[in-house]
Amino acid sequence: MKIPILATGLSGMVGTRVAEILSDNFEFEDISLATGIDITDKKSVDRVISESESKIILHLAAKTDVDSCEDDKILGEEGAAWQINVVGTENIIEAAKANGKRVIYISTDFVFNGTKDGYQEDDKPNPVSWYGYTKYQGEERLSTSDVSFTVLRISYPYRNLFEQKKDFVHRIIDQLKIDGKIMAVRDHIITPTFIDDIAFGLSVFLKRNISGIYHLVGSSSLSAEAATRLIRTVFNLSGEINPIDRSVYFKDRAFRPFNLTLRNDKIGKLGIRMSNFKEGLKTVKTQDSL
Ligand SMILES: NC(=O)c1ccc[n+]([C@@H]2O[C@H](COP(=O)([O-])OP(=O)(O)OC[C@H]3O[C@@H](n4cnc5c(N)ncnc54)[C@H](OP(=O)(O)O)[C@@H]3O)[C@@H](O)[C@H]2O)c1
Repeated sequence: MKIPILATGLSGMVGTRVAEILSDNFEFEDISLATGIDITDKKSVDRVISESESKIILHLAAKTDVDSCEDDKILGEEGAAWQINVVGTENIIEAAKANGKRVIYISTDFVFNGTKDGYQEDDKPNPVSWYGYTKYQGEERLSTSDVSFTVLRISYPYRNLFEQKKDFVHRIIDQLKIDGKIMAVRDHIITPTFIDDIAFGLSVFLKRNISGIYHLVGSSSLSAEAATRLIRTVFNLSGEINPIDRSVYFKDRAFRPFNLTLRNDKIGKLGIRMSNFKEGLKTVKTQDSL
């Protein structure tokens, strides 16, 4: 018997892969614009959640483009970033509360400002981008509600090739192949996360009632420049890598934190093992060539 799971965002880069990997054990029902439900519309959300057999709402949907979210900042609560990431999440929380369901909310490393080396789950978020701020507001709404909840923070997710929205790994591969050169930021440290591992980790939280905040992130952190070099090596590419500073590369765009190293020891205690970047890349390379 498959476990029914009502989820938002299953048509996205992370959600499609999660649903594909976990479909043997879970029956996913997607709440998305494609299935006729806008999460900012409270009535539709109430209806679909009250009619569902699922005991859990897996909430992945968000406005995820960091720079486009930053453009929404001037619009405040009227902007799409606030409406989708905060109001949409509130709608889900309220419907979950009314129907006695648990919420698993997918959040981000961008809730941190990047001034610490190695964030733990109990470090206080202090987002510096509007995207990070709206996602953190979603976390806050959930953790202060009476709903049983889990917040899973993921970071720099990557996977096998997904043409609809390429992850950062495939965008780097494309640029090295097409342009033969790339600029790589030297002072932005990231924790890349293999989406197949996110799916496995998520299955643990879907099967067991574990509440609280967890970092469901990869097991290595490195600069964007080092990540680019590793991608070039693993995928046997050539091409010139030109290091650049954040202040130049992201000029006039959303501010990028310096050090987004997130620790994943807490999920390790649940038996969830996450690949380091090299391991994940090697698997992606094999998957892409199948
Ligand atoms: N990608 C990253 O780098 C990253 C990093 C850290 C954390 N995350 C988090 O991981 C989660 C998934 O990210 P992703 O990259 O897979 O996202 P994505 O590819 O940008 O997909 C966004 C998803 O949200 C849905 N959505 C957007 N607006 C909606 C609305 N008003 N009503 C209903 N559904 C709506 C979209 O559905 P439609 O197809 O119907 O538009 C789509 O399924 C997000 O919560 C994000 O904050 C992502």
